Amino acid sequence: MAEAQVEDRPQTLPGEVVRSVPTPNRTSRYDGFLPGQSPPATEGNLRMLPCGQIEGGVGDLAVDERGLLHRTPSGRRRPTEGYGRRVRRIHPEPTGDIDPAEVVLDDDRQAPPGRPWVLMNMVASVDGATTVGGRSEKLSGPADRRVFRALRGSVDMILVGAGTVRAEDYRPPRTPEDTIATKRSIDGQDARPRLVVVSASLDLDPEAPLFADRESTDPPPIVATVTTAPAERRARLEPVAEVVACGETCVDLTGLLAVLDDIGARTVLCEGGPDLNHQLVAAGLVDELCITVSPGLTGGGGGDYGSLLAGPPLSATTRLSLDRVLTEDGFLFCRYLVS
Ligand SMILES: NC(=O)c1ccc[n+]([C@@H]2O[C@H](COP(=O)([O-])OP(=O)(O)OC[C@H]3O[C@@H](n4cnc5c(N)ncnc54)[C@H](OP(=O)(O)O)[C@@H]3O)[C@@H](O)[C@H]2O)c1
Repeated sequence: MAEAQVEDRPQTLPGEVVRSVPTPNRTSRYDGFLPGQSPPATEGNLRMLPCGQIEGGVGDLAVDERGLLHRTPSGRRRPTEGYGRRVRRIHPEPTGDIDPAEVVLDDDRQAPPGRPWVLMNMVASVDGATTVGGRSEKLSGPADRRVFRALRGSVDMILVGAGTVRAEDYRPPRTPEDTIATKRSIDGQDARPRLVVVSASLDLDPEAPLFADRESTDPPPIVATVTTAPAERRARLEPVAEVVACGETCVDLTGLLAVLDDIGARTVLCEGGPDLNHQLVAAGLVDELCITVSPGLTGGGGGDYGSLLAGPPLSATTRLSLDRVLTEDGFLFCRYLVS
């Protein structure tokens, strides 16, 4: 679909009144800017003072005793579209407006032995649909995209199934907003998270923006595949991706996470889709779920691809504890920890 058409698409659920929502150059929930566009200012505008404070760029930022970055009371907020706008916390204790980036940076994510911490992020309608017309964007909205970008910005790697890549017009992760970019720099993380695509068929276009449009300083995406993958497709992807075989006919996700751990990933964000989610949950490889409840009903039995997990019943219910709920504009942003 032409980019202009995508750009004009209303970000609403069926039947909802279409409001004028600023959607500059956005193509999907998974991308904010088209190639060649500048993301908002970067860590290059900021410098750390001897006292531990960071100044410049977006105002005054300070590192607290846990090494977490916060804006000082005197700090001022730079008005950047899609960034820095606030949400409210309604659980555990209600707050006034808070920045989703600061909330996410406060989260504790200690990797278990031998693999990274795995968090899963999905958006679903109140009746559990994860797609409308084959994509997730009509379930999303400005606040969801802010929370989504904050989560993306906090992790080392983003794990995604090939079905989602094909459906959602994936692009390279963009530079996170300033607060998160600065924290990444202090923590020694790469400027942007690295994408890891899981595919047995390798039915992926090597000329797609996901591969073609990355920053030249970023490592290429990882494509995790199987030893029986078609050799010709593998040969076409190898110049643009790091292709890793983890299994004969099906990628062994435990093995893949061990590989990612070996190359330094401490946090991995799984962005779906439901097929990959189900396998990760069934294998006990998920530590946290960040679920956006989108205020709408779609009918149709959970959308084209079912709900958050596509697969047979789990052998036992995975118990979750509710850690946090944020809200804005009727959306709920729930953080669950796997018990
Ligand atoms: N609401 C949301 O937040 C959200 C988030 C993500 C996706 N979605 C939607 O979900 C839909 C796609 O769902 P899906 O469940 O079909 O897609 P998926 O999980 O993204 O992808 C499934 C594909 O991933 C590959 N794969 C997964 N596990 C594998 C393994 N262990 N070994 C080898 N390959 C593996 C296979 O690719 P090959 O076929 O290439 O072998 C498989 O066909 C899209 O419509 C998307 O819009 C919604």
